[in-house]
Amino acid sequence: MNLSALLRKRFHAALTELTDQPDEYAGMIRVAADPKFGDYQSNACMPLGKKVGQSPRDVAAKLVDTLQADDICEAPEIAGPGFINLKLRDEFLSKTLADMLSDDRVGVSVTSDPETIVIDYSSPNVAKPMHVGHIRSTVIGNALAETLRFVGHNVITDNHLGDWGTQFGIIIYGYKHFGDPDVVAANPVPELASLYRLTNQLIEYQKAKASLPKLSEKLAEAESNAKTEADAAAAIESDEKASPKDKKKARKSAEAALRRVESAKADIQSTQAKIAEVDNDSKLAALAAEHQDVPAAVLRETAKLHEGDAENRELWEKFLPHCKDEINRIYDRLGVTFDHTLGESFYHDRLPGVVEMLDRLGLTTKSDGAVCVFLDGFDSPMIIQKRDGAYLYATTDLATLQYRHEVFGCDRILYVVDSRQSEHFDKFFAMAGPLGMENIELVHVSFGTVLGKDGRPMKTRSGSLIGLESLLNDAVARAKDVVCNPERLATMSPPMGEDEQNSIAEVVGMGAIKYADLSHHRTSDYRFDVDKMVALEGNTATYMQYSYARTQSILRRVAEEQNIDSIEDWITENITVDDLQLREPAERALSIALIRFEEALEGVVAGYTPNQLCDYLFDTAKAYSTFNEACRVLGNTDPVILKTRLALVVLTGRVIKQGLRLLGIGVCDRM
Ligand code: ARG
Repeated sequence: MNLSALLRKRFHAALTELTDQPDEYAGMIRVAADPKFGDYQSNACMPLGKKVGQSPRDVAAKLVDTLQADDICEAPEIAGPGFINLKLRDEFLSKTLADMLSDDRVGVSVTSDPETIVIDYSSPNVAKPMHVGHIRSTVIGNALAETLRFVGHNVITDNHLGDWGTQFGIIIYGYKHFGDPDVVAANPVPELASLYRLTNQLIEYQKAKASLPKLSEKLAEAESNAKTEADAAAAIESDEKASPKDKKKARKSAEAALRRVESAKADIQSTQAKIAEVDNDSKLAALAAEHQDVPAAVLRETAKLHEGDAENRELWEKFLPHCKDEINRIYDRLGVTFDHTLGESFYHDRLPGVVEMLDRLGLTTKSDGAVCVFLDGFDSPMIIQKRDGAYLYATTDLATLQYRHEVFGCDRILYVVDSRQSEHFDKFFAMAGPLGMENIELVHVSFGTVLGKDGRPMKTRSGSLIGLESLLNDAVARAKDVVCNPERLATMSPPMGEDEQNSIAEVVGMGAIKYADLSHHRTSDYRFDVDKMVALEGNTATYMQYSYARTQSILRRVAEEQNIDSIEDWITENITVDDLQLREPAERALSIALIRFEEALEGVVAGYTPNQLCDYLFDTAKAYSTFNEACRVLGNTDPVILKTRLALVVLTGRVIKQGLRLLGIGVCDRM
């Protein structure tokens, strides 16, 4: 039941009598800010009054007259400048709750307009260890896939693995120069990871060294600019004719120039630190001296792989399964699966065809030997083939789009990818039309950066990104401290064995990491703070899981009290609308929260924003907590009150469990 949608429909019908643009006003229905005034409110009459030149209160009176919503609400009230306050009828609430109880979809309807939607997510570049940045795409993409599927779309998930790029050039180079075949064969995953790290360190080192002259030049420029700005500011300062505004402007501009000097200095410092790290390590320094220009050599290895060089292909075939094992271990742990894993390599043979097709359509231009497509509205072209014949990320994306169009016949594709790639996607999406795929809706579901506690992108001391697995382990360990500490364990009956504790810690730890990510709006950066994530209070998965466990514990205890096997089954089979009598405000508030589940999902689907589901679950869990304090269930002897409350406990458990499931998060029956 989507209550907002239902009210919108009723308002729409009534508005047609007042305006020829009912669509514009029907949607102005909100959850009431203060339950004293009602449950929902319409804010349509203020703008509508203005439009038709009447007082909003008069318009509201007319609207209320024609509105047919007696079956849903009490008589609407007009308040303040022209708000219409709506209070849901108790019978309506009881009926809706009873329907939810008898429905295994907890009342969530299925879309009348199902689409085939491909979701491209996770898509890490394998061959290098996964880091925390990869978790966002994986977790957000998975939540969107689950939610869109649940509301009735045909969802196809596809992990567009980076299994063909420079990172393979890096391990091939590393293996050829520093690898010991026997050691790698015996322990491939960690050995390949360490070869990657070593080679990458040399690349970064040599690139850093090469960049120093440019950085010094930049600093000198910034310093000279700062001096000019400072002189100009001083001159204006002593000029009696200059206005305070001009003086302020000059001061600001001089300050900004100084900040640019500081930032240029900081760039040099961090580059020097990177260089020193290798220089101070005699083994590394010797390797760096011995192997000149590793960046170029790595590009050559990558090119050889693409051209079909037998040795590099063989190494690639040998390494790829190990790289996949490594990421699959993480996916297993996160409980994430994909319908397809068609990596970049899968499209390699189709790339010449993409260039030919664009040629045929007359879309390409040769520029400096490279094949480019110039697009309206963009300053720079999209390069689809480099001068040396190499294809690019964009070329592969075009081939992938064609494939998904032909094979999956999709209506929509979501690309759940870092916001730093937005320019790539803007350009790439602009090519869909000319290629005859304008009917596919292409969406870049972008997201921000994961920051450390200090507010900067997460790094370890050595400067490399923190491996994902150690973060997962850390979260599980903290979860265990919080949920299975001695005081809590002492209250558990029957006692909680080590196995149960470990499995709870895993569910809570994974949930904490996922929820922390999902509960922030995807486009904002967020701080990765394990202590906050696993906290039992606040907007955390732990709190939702704990609320769920409380519902189950109550149901178990009542089952014992009543000598019934399962209260959940008993309530589902025996309850009627008349048994559901909401008398306490806390019962009513919880009921309304539960009924809003579908509305929350509508929000997630509309904006690709799982945080709306998190907010909803948090509100619901809080309403449940208030209910728990105010409304006794255990030992209650009034049969109607008891049935009503048990029904609410059952539904709360189902909604939280289902909501968390859509976020990819599990629950425990006790914790
Ligand atoms: N492998 C890419 C990266 O790690 C992300 C790929 C996203 N998907 C796509 N179709 N471009 O940056």
